[in-house]
Amino acid sequence: MDVLIAPSVLSADFACLTDELADAAEGGADWFHLDVMDGHFVPNITFGPFVVKAIRAATELFLDCHLMIQDPLTYAPQFAKAGADLVTFHAEVDQDPEQIIDAIEAQGKKAGMVVNPGTDAQVLQHWLPRLSLVVVMSVKPGFAGQSFMPDVLEKIAVLRSLGYEGNIEMDGGVSPDTARACKDAGATVLVAGSAVFGEADRAAAIRAIREA
Ligand code: DX5
Ligand code: ZN
Repeated sequence: MDVLIAPSVLSADFACLTDELADAAEGGADWFHLDVMDGHFVPNITFGPFVVKAIRAATELFLDCHLMIQDPLTYAPQFAKAGADLVTFHAEVDQDPEQIIDAIEAQGKKAGMVVNPGTDAQVLQHWLPRLSLVVVMSVKPGFAGQSFMPDVLEKIAVLRSLGYEGNIEMDGGVSPDTARACKDAGATVLVAGSAVFGEADRAAAIRAIREA
């Protein structure tokens, strides 16, 4: 199967988000990746369920909502309710993943987990059977436009060796230059913020990543 491209709206122009979403969707985006930051888990703040609800109304594409927040147990259901199709939370938060997954699924949505560059993929082992997506961070979370960390690619093989058969997404620093290595390592979803919304021609930008 071809790799899925998920532009991160973090790098879009929020003053005209509807046009930005339409532009990327027409340009061939498969999913949208929504980066939620709370100023505690990461040193940056982005947006909440209110904006996800607006994005939901503006596009029919699958919404992959990446929660970089300290309290996903409280907020993940709110993002699910707002219209995210899949909600992911970090393995590094100090909460019980089982309960968070239950809370997301109770809203009829899919759950996924994320590992930071310094976190071993093995920590996810127990929950893998319940996850629709594993996100492997290829930058330190918090900001768009950082450089890709190739060392994290080996986590894909580790996840497969643990029997995980779901989607594996690379998040951070993905561009036409780094996409080939991600695909060769077995990634099935590629997030691209600056490499899509930072380019004037979104269709060409998405094609360049797809064909890398
Ligand atoms: C980083 C976010 C990423 C990031 C992607 O904290 O989780 O999704 O915005 O942006 P680029 O593709 O520019 O690295
Ligand atoms: Zn992200």
